[in-house]
Amino acid sequence: MNVINKNNQDKIKRTYISLATLGNSNVGKTNIINNFLGLQFTDKNISTIGIDFKIKNVILENNSKLKVKIWDTAGQERFRSMAFNFLKNIQGILLIYDLTDESSFISIDRWINNLENKLDMKNVPIILVGNKNDKEDERKISYEKGLKYAQKYNFKFFEMSAKTGENVNKAFLTLIHLYYDKNKEEFILENVKENIKEDEKNNNKNSNKKVVKRKCFF
Ligand code: GTP
Repeated sequence: MNVINKNNQDKIKRTYISLATLGNSNVGKTNIINNFLGLQFTDKNISTIGIDFKIKNVILENNSKLKVKIWDTAGQERFRSMAFNFLKNIQGILLIYDLTDESSFISIDRWINNLENKLDMKNVPIILVGNKNDKEDERKISYEKGLKYAQKYNFKFFEMSAKTGENVNKAFLTLIHLYYDKNKEEFILENVKENIKEDEKNNNKNSNKKVVKRKCFF
């Protein structure tokens, strides 16, 4: 839940960050999210219907606990307008193609055109992802081609595999930090290390207390 900051009634403070995966059907969006959540990879081809979300807590470099809400959009053409309507409230996007499928790479142009109309591209970080890099024998898009494309738009770029997990965490954490590091003042987060210290203090206090042994008679 995002809450209003008491000191400044006008500003809504974020307690979580919302990210989205976008790209053609079959590029691996659902499996990438599942891998990030520690769920199993599936070979089954089950298309997402409409839009779905999943949540994971991550600990940031400054020990703050951040709830990450990840929207899994359907790649199928008939659901696209629904996916784009959600983007108003998104703080980061993984824009994904399948590096064994040239048409999914060509479509990235169209995804970007649509994004330019729907959101403030300067404030919402986008990472370009070439997925399925475990299928080297079937590769159609070279690493250099993907990187060059990303550089044209100033996007960060990762090749990854939802199957082996290569670069999945790294890409999500990079995306989170791209937004969070620039907009820290928007968030109120729990500091995990301070809580641990607090717990330790309480434990020590309790351990200093005399333990009164009571005898029980039944
Ligand atoms: P839509 O819901 O239709 O938009 O598809 P999606 O982009 O969510 O793709 P999904 O995750 O359902 O994966 C589609 C197919 O690609 C499935 O058969 C997956 O097993 C396969 N797949 C996804 N990622 C990888 C990967 O990194 N490597 C390999 N080898 N296969 C993958």
